[in-house]
Amino acid sequence: MNIRKRILALSGITAVLLFSQWAQAADSARISIDDDWRFVKNDPAGITDNLTYPRAPRFRRGRTADSTNTFSPTSGIAQYILPTGNDFIADPARRYSKPEGNYGADIPYVNPSFDDREWRKLDLPHDFAIEGPFIPPDEAGSDGATGRLPYFGVAWYRKHLSIPAADAGKQIYLDMDGAMSYATVWCNGQIVGGWPYGYASWRVDLTPMIKPGADNVLAIRLDNPANSSRWYPGGGIYRNVWLTKVAPIHVKQWGTYVTTPEISASSATVAIKTDCENDSKKDASIVINTVVYPMDGSGRTDKSKHPVAKSDASISIKAGESASTPQTLQVANPKLWSPDTPVLYVAVTTLTQEGKVVDTYETRFGIRSIKYDPSAGLFVNGKHFKLNGVCDHHDLGALGTAINFRALQRQLEMLHDMGCNALRTSHNPPAPELLDFADQMGFLVLDEAFDTWGQNKRPNDYGGGNLFNVWHEQDLRALIRRDRNHPAIVMWSIGNEIGEQNQGSNSVIAKELAGIVHSEDPTRPVTAACNDFNAMNNGFSTLLDAMGFNYKPDNYIRFHQLYPNEFFFATETASTISSRGEYFFPVTSSGFGTVNGRGRNGQPNGSQDDSIHQMSSYDLYYPGWATSPDHEFFGQDHSQAVAGEFVWTGFDYIGEPTPWGGRNDPSRSSYFGIIDLAGFPKDRFYLYQAHWRPDFPMAHILPHWTWPERAADPKADPPRAALVTPVHVYTSGDEAELFLNGKSLGRKKKIFDIPNNSRLNGEPAYRIRWDDVPYEPGELKVVAYKNGKKWATDTVKTAGEPKRLVLQPDRATITDDGHDISFITLRLVDRAGTTVPRSHNLVHFTISGPGQIVATDNGDATDLSIFSSPDRKVFNGLAMVIVKAKRGQSGTIILKAESDGMETAQTKIKLK
Ligand code: GAL
Repeated sequence: MNIRKRILALSGITAVLLFSQWAQAADSARISIDDDWRFVKNDPAGITDNLTYPRAPRFRRGRTADSTNTFSPTSGIAQYILPTGNDFIADPARRYSKPEGNYGADIPYVNPSFDDREWRKLDLPHDFAIEGPFIPPDEAGSDGATGRLPYFGVAWYRKHLSIPAADAGKQIYLDMDGAMSYATVWCNGQIVGGWPYGYASWRVDLTPMIKPGADNVLAIRLDNPANSSRWYPGGGIYRNVWLTKVAPIHVKQWGTYVTTPEISASSATVAIKTDCENDSKKDASIVINTVVYPMDGSGRTDKSKHPVAKSDASISIKAGESASTPQTLQVANPKLWSPDTPVLYVAVTTLTQEGKVVDTYETRFGIRSIKYDPSAGLFVNGKHFKLNGVCDHHDLGALGTAINFRALQRQLEMLHDMGCNALRTSHNPPAPELLDFADQMGFLVLDEAFDTWGQNKRPNDYGGGNLFNVWHEQDLRALIRRDRNHPAIVMWSIGNEIGEQNQGSNSVIAKELAGIVHSEDPTRPVTAACNDFNAMNNGFSTLLDAMGFNYKPDNYIRFHQLYPNEFFFATETASTISSRGEYFFPVTSSGFGTVNGRGRNGQPNGSQDDSIHQMSSYDLYYPGWATSPDHEFFGQDHSQAVAGEFVWTGFDYIGEPTPWGGRNDPSRSSYFGIIDLAGFPKDRFYLYQAHWRPDFPMAHILPHWTWPERAADPKADPPRAALVTPVHVYTSGDEAELFLNGKSLGRKKKIFDIPNNSRLNGEPAYRIRWDDVPYEPGELKVVAYKNGKKWATDTVKTAGEPKRLVLQPDRATITDDGHDISFITLRLVDRAGTTVPRSHNLVHFTISGPGQIVATDNGDATDLSIFSSPDRKVFNGLAMVIVKAKRGQSGTIILKAESDGMETAQTKIKLK
């Protein structure tokens, strides 16, 4: 992570003034400009310049040869945008020059004197699409893949910037962490540049347009194409925005590159390359001083500690050019970064010209060594770490894609609790904050660039002639330069399920992309996520440094035999689908089952209820290309060579509601998550926890135990016997005994064997199951054992009638920065306080005091009431309310929950 003095916090938590300790004589600054923007959808009438970025003439799905898709959008508005990426094009001859003149000057919105007071006032980050409403399934534009939300179309943002007269002579840059998508920036009526890829972070130089000592106006136009994504992309300026002010001589954007080539217990070599830019009119001689400090556990610098290394270097930079210099420092007795000990250092770079400090720049890094062993997996500082990872898309559930520091932190805390130690940023560059957290919390990250190359997956996506052909180099280099100092990152992924896999070792694009990665960061392997069986033996993997498999647990042993010298792992696994708290019967009794499936005997397998569009939570069901978690565990456990897995997915996400993504299906969000969209763990959370945290004593029973219709009824005509209701237990123990109302139903061991290692045969191995339990209300209790000793217990009880609402905030005190949030769980309970599992009562939330309800959710993939609604149905006993403080206010927020016939609940959130 590279930053200058951070003036405003991201959102109040640990990042507050994180790096401000070294404010030096140089008044370089990176200022948050997230607050007080104006926003409107659509273009005004009467525009003459064509503002639509040229896209490929037609959908080219399935083209196999890279060379057939050569459309290159360099005309129209693209001419003004392409030069923004010049720093990321290696060959100077291929860089773009900006045309003379202005573009779009006739648009009233770009005119500084345009009166935007009628526009909506808001703070960034902002996702306009999450506001909805959901487009009903039978209406045009309703697309399950993208969550049935209106993410497409044009949006404008404007902001007034007051630039002090003292800034005259400075370079002033606009740094965008991400805008979805096809952004064009005007400043004071002049076109500046932009960037089309919605997941990229980028910079434009405002200096020539800025008027110091005056009001300046930014106008940003976004143009999000329909049919451009396989998941919910969101829309708007959905990440943080910064103004960077520096002297003409300064460290370049992402201008430092830190590596730690030699490490021993007594010393570490820290190599730092610093790129400096001279935007002045005179050649300059500069002294680069680099000082390394340790940081404390929360990512702050421990001021009481002295610098641990220092170095000075001199450099001459010609006017208008840039130059770089390497420095080598020795850190004695280094503290090493690893998932167990995420220790960080910061390098503070100071540029001095003629005795005067002109710039300071800070780079956070870690000292660690990584070994990628084709036979034994991944080693950090010599210790083996299995990748127990998850894939996630970028949305934060009900908050949409607008990055929120606390929402992201909470997600990662839950994943940590599950035993997850790795993240795949599927299938695009993440928000920078995700990587900061990963460094701080000790996650290993697979940073991914693209979902498409030359071939498209959707007509208007990134692939081929839309953007890939002209932008892939800039996007890939920008990603790596932005992210390469994060110790958390262990590999770069150049693509997910790319069509070109079937070209094997002939893929021109794979070679080019791998070459780009190697030139920007030779210290980490290049990988790609391969789902095509051909990629296993057609040589495609030889173009990569690490082979990533999607859904191939039965092939690890064979792959290692074929390519004993290739490091490999599972980029994507499981894709098991379930709805929290839903269970259907009869449960498939042997092995697992596919969706819409039938058991091997042709009987219904209890995978789902199509009438309510919910999947069973017995965690046995998955689409045809996928597997159960147990099956993947089996594949992982039977190959020493495979380096681990990334489960699809950690959290449910908006869009891709397989198997109900069709035209007339109602669902809005996925069923793939281990944790639901509202952030409530599904049963599967405990299956992963049991496997990934073997030393953490835990046991978890499923299903819930409130099934009045399954109880014996001697008075019925004819009398009904109790219905068989299978019980599964997930435990980190190796044996368990189940009791129903105090009676033992038997003590059983985990069986780590699947006959024939085939997909559907055999018994689940990583859970303990009692398949023939006749339902009887009361109490179900499990006692788990490990090595013969009592290890953990869990109990579920039959609930009575719903009576009361209960509210439980995750944090009862939040900051007043206008970004910090509290997640408040609502539970519907019976008289005794037991959660009523199948309750769906409608709850109304009201708030008073200095806060607002930002969103409500319940994790029900079929709920199409918009997330900002204060009314939410409970889904299987639970709902979530997300509350934010009003910026700059103080006092106590009071949240109240009411529901017909239920005792109301109230909770307080204090502001600090
Ligand atoms: C994979 C794909 C993911 C997601 C997943 C669902 O094939 O890479 O993006 O679509 O399937 O199972």
